[in-house]
Amino acid sequence: MRPAEVARAAADFVRRHHSEEQLGDPAPRLAEIDTELAATGTYTHTPQELVFGARVAWRNANRCIGRLYWRSLRVRDLRGLTGAQEIAAACADHLREAAPGGRIRPLITVFAPDAPGRPGPRIWNEQLIRYAGYVQRDGHVVGDPRGAGLTALARRLGWHGGAGTPFDVLPLVVQRVPHEKPRCFDLPPDAVLEVPLQHPEFTWWPELGLRWHAVPALANMCLEIGGICYGAAPFNGWYMGTEIGARNLADTDRYNLLPYLAHRLGLDTSSDRSLWKDRALVELNRSVLHSFDRAGVTIADHHTESHRFLTHIGREEARGRTVGADWSWIVPPMSGSTTAVFHRTYDTTESTPSFVHHPDAHARARGEERAVTRHDRQPTPWHDLV
Ligand code: ARG
Repeated sequence: MRPAEVARAAADFVRRHHSEEQLGDPAPRLAEIDTELAATGTYTHTPQELVFGARVAWRNANRCIGRLYWRSLRVRDLRGLTGAQEIAAACADHLREAAPGGRIRPLITVFAPDAPGRPGPRIWNEQLIRYAGYVQRDGHVVGDPRGAGLTALARRLGWHGGAGTPFDVLPLVVQRVPHEKPRCFDLPPDAVLEVPLQHPEFTWWPELGLRWHAVPALANMCLEIGGICYGAAPFNGWYMGTEIGARNLADTDRYNLLPYLAHRLGLDTSSDRSLWKDRALVELNRSVLHSFDRAGVTIADHHTESHRFLTHIGREEARGRTVGADWSWIVPPMSGSTTAVFHRTYDTTESTPSFVHHPDAHARARGEERAVTRHDRQPTPWHDLV
């Protein structure tokens, strides 16, 4: 962002903050920011601005169905941490704080922002907890194919961990500054709450050895507030069952479990018209919800979350705000038309503060160090060292 754009974005944000929180005249704060911008090319959010900005970024997440509780987001302000190891340790603390006793609370940890000539840290993982994917000789992947790129990168960086099971938790890949080689840190096991899957009726289900982690914590989206980019700001909510049961474990380019489950369930898989995929999908999703409930770990079902989202829209509109939303992300990936969110359209306008995906963040999450280096135009590419 050019300095003039930062100034404009800062002013918009500060005005919104003052009006929504009824803080009175924003002029003194605007003048203060102008002075800081002129002297340093950037400015520093107050703790109150950071909390408000992070909450509104969630409120503005057009793909998120779970925004009813946006005001409850807790913010850990760790802008002062600089070392890769400290950042990794703070991420582990984040996971512990996010799920005390299985009760999940929405939480964000904010590390140092980018400043002119002084970019902040980056977490390469797309989520704090993700599973490794080990590509076999024949191309088959043990684990999560989505994690294959980062698994390979972690190995190139010297990661030795990983027992080779389908559910090995990836190490955190943390980069203190862009031209420095990223470092791997194993998450301490006590920071990683997982739920083994069982089924309300089929007693053989646990033999399948399926599991999923309790906390979805996106780690590579940039939190953008008033023209300032926080490139490392991991945040979490709780899961909606279909994210696990209808996508992570079911997608053909992920764990692709439906054919195997259909076989175990004795379904006729000779024709799509028997709806074996649909039937296996329902059992898998029942298993996810049932197992989390049994383990006392917060999880939402898609029917409840759809109702909540419409409540959210109602509340926001009553306050004179429109809710932007992306239909293709809001509608659950199974039984869409049985939920009310399916039967309407949404305003697709995007607003800031927001969480954004930079293209280089996607490349990093796939473990592509070269693409990243080119994008960031680093003079001394560290990838020669790997
Ligand atoms: N869909 C992603 C996953 O399955 C998580 C995205 C965020 N989800 C959430 N409930 N906050 O891991």
